[in-house]
Amino acid sequence: MTLDNCFPLAARAALLEPSSIRELGKLARNPGMISFAGGTPDPALFPTASIAAATAAILGESASSREALTYGPSEGYLPLRTSLARLMNADGMRANAENILITSGAQQALEFIATLLIDPGVRVIVTHPTYVGALQAFRLYNAELASIPQDESGLDLRSLELELAAGARFIYLVPDFANPTGLSLPLENRQAIVELCARFGVPIVEDQAYRHLTYESSPPPTLLELARRHGRAGGVIYLSTLSKVIAPGLRTGWILAPEELHRKLVMLKQASDLHGTTLAQMIAAQLAESVMATQLDGVRAAYRERRDAMLAALEKLGIPGLRWSKPTGGMFVWLTFPATMDAAQLLTYAVEEQVLFVPGAAFHADAAGQNTARLCFAAGSIASIEEGMVRLGVAFEKLHRAPDAHSASLR
Ligand SMILES: Cc1ncc(COP(=O)(O)O)c(C=O)c1O
Repeated sequence: MTLDNCFPLAARAALLEPSSIRELGKLARNPGMISFAGGTPDPALFPTASIAAATAAILGESASSREALTYGPSEGYLPLRTSLARLMNADGMRANAENILITSGAQQALEFIATLLIDPGVRVIVTHPTYVGALQAFRLYNAELASIPQDESGLDLRSLELELAAGARFIYLVPDFANPTGLSLPLENRQAIVELCARFGVPIVEDQAYRHLTYESSPPPTLLELARRHGRAGGVIYLSTLSKVIAPGLRTGWILAPEELHRKLVMLKQASDLHGTTLAQMIAAQLAESVMATQLDGVRAAYRERRDAMLAALEKLGIPGLRWSKPTGGMFVWLTFPATMDAAQLLTYAVEEQVLFVPGAAFHADAAGQNTARLCFAAGSIASIEEGMVRLGVAFEKLHRAPDAHSASLR
């Protein structure tokens, strides 16, 4: 008897698909494998001692231990919401703790936004490519996804205007050090996006998962801030997470949304899981104030070096026709091969050589991008990056020697 015979599934269940990245995660656990596949920060850089000290302090005192272990407010732990508002304000925004909802990572924020905003068949604009977890969340609600190209100079404004004119429920953007490309939107491009979205009355969902992982200068103002200057702060939902700068296992993300939407989000949080884990939120609140600055200094310095190592190794590989992004922050380098080449085919050789990456098609709403790939430089040491890139070079060599049409184009 199949599961469907026992439990007739909702039509929505057919829209759930396994994540190729999570499947690669299983291979990544093979001994000797070097993985550039996961979008995971380096566990060696988690502020473990501070988390242990905060946990001991919270649980070691009776009032705070009771608070940590009983039910809490659906909006989230107020001191954490206050700290996050302060963090946003220090970054040039005007955030109010009242309008912040704590979510189980930014992923739950995306799921909630999809639940509240997407009716089957409504159009949602995303970039080409975009974060695969957003695609998963939006697809579950049967959104019609329209994607627009982005490069170093920003979003293609002509395509954006056409898509906005065709109508959309919202546009989803990762303006800083995007997953998967590592690209950021330049200031003028951000201003143009805010103006265009205001003109067509299309709200913006701004995902700032990577904004604090900056390795050169400070990034331009957020879309939320630019929209405020334009008198349109109500047209932006802002979400972010502590996953990439503190630790993803704390599952601490947040959404700052306009008043009315915030109220609905809180009701949704109740319906979903009542509230996030209070202990994790209390730990996060302590860390967000106390160790954030040193933690940021540490991860920025480490990831900057790793990014440099990966870019240098790509240069050294000297593969003709291969192009790559040069991110100024975040965790990813995006590769583009000649159009006839298939990244999935390269992956089979890479697995033989004990190195992993994510073929780029997963990040495209229309499954295009067969000739693209994402490499994460954050998760391992410089030595493992250098060794992994040598292995990747061998995989390219094997592909070149493979008796088929794809490989010829690499030379
Ligand atoms: C752009 C982006 N948004 C959201 C998330 C989800 O992060 P989390 O749920 O760990 O906070 C990720 C994780 O990789 C991401 O890359």
